[in-house]
Order: sequence, then structure tokens, then C-alpha cells
Amino acid sequence: MMEPRPAPPLQDVDNQELKKLLSSLPKERGIISSDTYQYQGFWYPPHALQGIINCQEEFQPRENDIFLVTPPKSGTTWLKAILYALVNREAHPPQDPHHPLLSKTPHQLVPFLELLHPSEYVSVCNSSDSSTRILATHVPLGTLPKAITGDSSSLNCKIVYLCRDTKDNFVSLFHFGNDRMKTSPISLEDAFDLYCKGISPGGPIWDQILGYWKESQKNPHKVLFMRYEEMKDEPYLQLRRLANFLGIPFFPEEENSGLVDQIISICSFESMTKVDVNKTGTFVDGSNNSSFFRKGVVGDWKNCLTADMASRLDQITEEKFRGSGLSLSNISSPCSPSPCKP
Ligand code: A3P
Repeated sequence: MMEPRPAPPLQDVDNQELKKLLSSLPKERGIISSDTYQYQGFWYPPHALQGIINCQEEFQPRENDIFLVTPPKSGTTWLKAILYALVNREAHPPQDPHHPLLSKTPHQLVPFLELLHPSEYVSVCNSSDSSTRILATHVPLGTLPKAITGDSSSLNCKIVYLCRDTKDNFVSLFHFGNDRMKTSPISLEDAFDLYCKGISPGGPIWDQILGYWKESQKNPHKVLFMRYEEMKDEPYLQLRRLANFLGIPFFPEEENSGLVDQIISICSFESMTKVDVNKTGTFVDGSNNSSFFRKGVVGDWKNCLTADMASRLDQITEEKFRGSGLSLSNISSPCSPSPCKP
């Protein structure tokens, strides 16, 4: 499995072509970066854009590739770990004291497609290795490379889509953004307004979620739609669902030997936050590895959003999803009277 090489630092966009492109795109203040740009109808931090364009043009998938797609701060890191442990359970049993998840971050084991260094496409695409690759991305369905989505409506690979309640997603994004922009933090109110206007990475989040939701309804063998809350509530069931979808169901002997629980355990918030590499060091875009692990719970929005904010966001989400058969909310016990600060 490939490992990502460092991408250029955020502030160091020195590629002339990218600079030219950026200057032609709508720009706003971002929640996780000082600026965010709208490309093909969705918003991205500048460091992701070059990679998105590169992979649209050059990435060649294999039929057995697995793509994990998420809006940022939906539990990507967790599901990366789960997918890696699941797919590689024979080579790396979860109880192995040298399991790769104990010495590498999930982002090293399952890289983001848009953060791979351009030169890696060559080695990745031409590789004679036919093992299953797991790659992650935050882009909406329409922005995925055409080589993945196909020219008609037939997807060429399997997509696992994970999202979460938008209130918890926003709160997680807000904290993550201020963790990486310590010198120019954004206020809760400004970040919230941007989010509600659809200006969040990979957003408008509702459009991204609906795109994959509809595809999962149309094409259930190619797109699996998962929710963070369901993973927290019933991990055993969801892990079996995931394994079945990927065509690698658990054998009865595996279930009887406790393998499913072992995978859940090695990927749990408690286990992952004890691993040294997840506590120290930096991610390819400069964020701290530790900033991908904050609380790992459902409903933390109650400690951050006012009742008005929560109901505004619920209302927007309800309106956007009306008629789609989709609901995400984890509604709602009393909110904290004082909203959190950057
Ligand atoms: P919170 O900020 O709500 O705690 P992403 O990986 O997409 O960036 O999402 C990060 C969110 O997933 C954070 O949410 C983080 O704490 C949570 N998370 C990370 N690892 C997790 C795990 N093993 N189990 C549950 N949640 C996890």
C-alpha cells in the first residue's frame, strides 16, 4: 500500500497554473483554512485543489479499489482504520502486536487521493500489484475522476460513504479549523454562518451527502451509505454490513473467534488515542495528527451550539433533505447556555 508524500505547505502555493486557477475562482474565508475556493460548485481549501484537478485528469482506478468518501470531520480517520483492518485481516490479524495500526496513522495506511503527490499517480497506476487499494477523498460524486464514476451512471469501483449529523460535523470542523489556524482563529458565529451558507470543505454538505445518498439508493452494490451515529451505536452490525458490501464477509469461524470485536477494539477511539504516532507528529497538510482525535462522541454539539443555532441547522438540513427519504439528525436534549469559543 502506498504512503503519501508531503504535500506543499498550505501557505506555499507556488504553482503558477494553480495560482492562475485560484484567481479565477470564487473565494471566501474558510473554516479550516484562511481562504476557501469554489470549484465545480463545491468549496475546497487551496492545498486540496491541485490534487483534485490532478486526479480528475490522471488517476486510473483498478476495479477492486475501494474509495472511502466523507465530508471532513465525519469520522474518516476511524473508518480508514476499520477498512484497513478489515481488508487486511488475514495478513494483519487485529491482535498482532505489530499491527500496522499500532505504528502508523490511518492516514498513512489509507491516503487521501487529493493529497497524493502528483508523481505518485505514475507509480500507483502502473503498478503490477493487484492487491486491493483503499483510498479516501472528501469530494462530491460529480467531482470524482471520471475514470471512477464511468461515463454513464455505472461506477467502476466500490464507494463507502460516511457522514454524520450536521451539528456534530460543524462543531468538529470548527474545533479542527481553530486547532490548525491558531494565529487567526475564526469565531464560532462566523464559522457557523459560513457552514449554513454551504461554505465548508467539500460542501455545500447537503449537496454532497444527497449525491451519494441517491447513488446508494440507485446502485446499492456500488455505494454503501453509512452514518457515524450507527457506527457508534451498533459497530458489530455495521462492520458486518461493510464486510458484506465489500464482498469479504466474515466466516463463521472468524465471528466465533471474536475477530469482529477485535477489529472494533483496535480501531476504537480509546485504542487509537493511545498509539504514539496518533499523538505526535503532523499530517501531510501540516495539521497535528492528534487533531483528528478530539472527543469521538455523538451529540457534542450540545456543549457548543445555542438552541437557536441547533434548530437553524436542523431546519436547513430538514429542508434540503425533504423528499429524499434521508435523515441524519441526532435530536436533541437541552443545549449548553454558553456557546464554545475558539
Ligand atoms: P469530534 O471532533 O466530534 O470528536 P475525521 O476523521 O473525518 O477528520 O473526523 C474526526 C472526528 O472523528 C472527530 O470527531 C474525532 O474525534 C472522531 N474520531 C476519530 N477517531 C475516532 C474513533 N476511533 N472512534 C470514534 N470517533 C473517532
